[in-house]
Amino acid sequence: MTSSPPLPYRPISSVEAGRTPLAIDWVGDVATGSLRMLDQTKLPTEILFIDCQDVETVWEGIKMLRVRGAPAIGIAAAMGVALAGKIHQGTDATDLISKARKASDYLRTSRPTAVNLFWALDRMNRLIDRLQSESVTKIREELLREARLIQSEDRDMCIAIGLAGTPRMPKQGGVLTHCNAGALATADFGTALSVIFHAHAAGHQIKAYVDETRPLLQGSRLTAWELMQRGVPTTLLCDNMAASLMRTGKVHAVVVGADRIAANGDTANKIGTYGVAVIARAHGVPFYVAAPSSTFDFSIADGSQIPIEIRDAKEITHGMGKQTAPEGVDVYNPAFDVTPAEYITAFFTEAGEIAPPYLENLAARLRK
Ligand code: MRU
Repeated sequence: MTSSPPLPYRPISSVEAGRTPLAIDWVGDVATGSLRMLDQTKLPTEILFIDCQDVETVWEGIKMLRVRGAPAIGIAAAMGVALAGKIHQGTDATDLISKARKASDYLRTSRPTAVNLFWALDRMNRLIDRLQSESVTKIREELLREARLIQSEDRDMCIAIGLAGTPRMPKQGGVLTHCNAGALATADFGTALSVIFHAHAAGHQIKAYVDETRPLLQGSRLTAWELMQRGVPTTLLCDNMAASLMRTGKVHAVVVGADRIAANGDTANKIGTYGVAVIARAHGVPFYVAAPSSTFDFSIADGSQIPIEIRDAKEITHGMGKQTAPEGVDVYNPAFDVTPAEYITAFFTEAGEIAPPYLENLAARLRK
């Protein structure tokens, strides 16, 4: 899957990159092991793991952003289906198949925008179809094997994405990112942050600028933390400071992740990304999107068809547990926005860098 990196760039190991805990993992074997989720709502002050004992806990973890970021949500959901296999009592394989299907249908309802969730569950569903006539033991093993494969493939893709984007990073300069597209949002390393980590490891003197990312602060709570854990010089700013920062000339590139990319390249990512893209264009700064093939949705023609999640008003009126708005105020709280393809300089994917025209080039390089 990963082609050889252009010299002098090379893949970095987790140890070399510094350590952050995995967002989601299956610890142990299928019979006695468990699905372990890092509760990201507690970061950066607490590292707390949830040992998921049922599918409802996985659903709640995705819904409440305990696990979040498009690829990590997909991995969590796939492992949630494997968990349905693990907790199944008895020897009736038909019953197990039906429970796995039910778990898959249920997990689909957790969040609407990141296509990786549906991509991973579709993959689990295809496997379930193939397992119809197998024993309970075999079905359980295969469900976990597939979920683990989704996880390990994502890790490989993240490394390839990092290598694809590294040559575009300044040898010395500022790179701005929005939300969290790091190890916490994937199997490891991240997408946008993998580019920064690989460039940093290759000797580029990068200063990372991190938008705090209102309203849930994934930038300040997660991205700034990850970058600092891995030794990258990091500066945090409020979202509304990005324009004035770019005007100073200190930002040489923007790199962000994505939740769903339409066939024409229109890209849904965390709310505020579109604004950053417009500001980057106004200042002549290249704007890159880093994403694995599992984030591309070739079934939709453009960004107008991407479902945008609308979240609870309280995330804005009672941010971090304190009331900061008058009682009863009307609130606009979409979790994502769509950046039109024309603002995107290039995509970094596991198949390398993809430049415009996107309608032709994305399909040619990624559509299977
Ligand atoms: O609401 P979140 O925190 O799940 O939103 C996450 C993002 O918008 C990320 O940028 C995106 O999922 C890419 S993760 C590699």
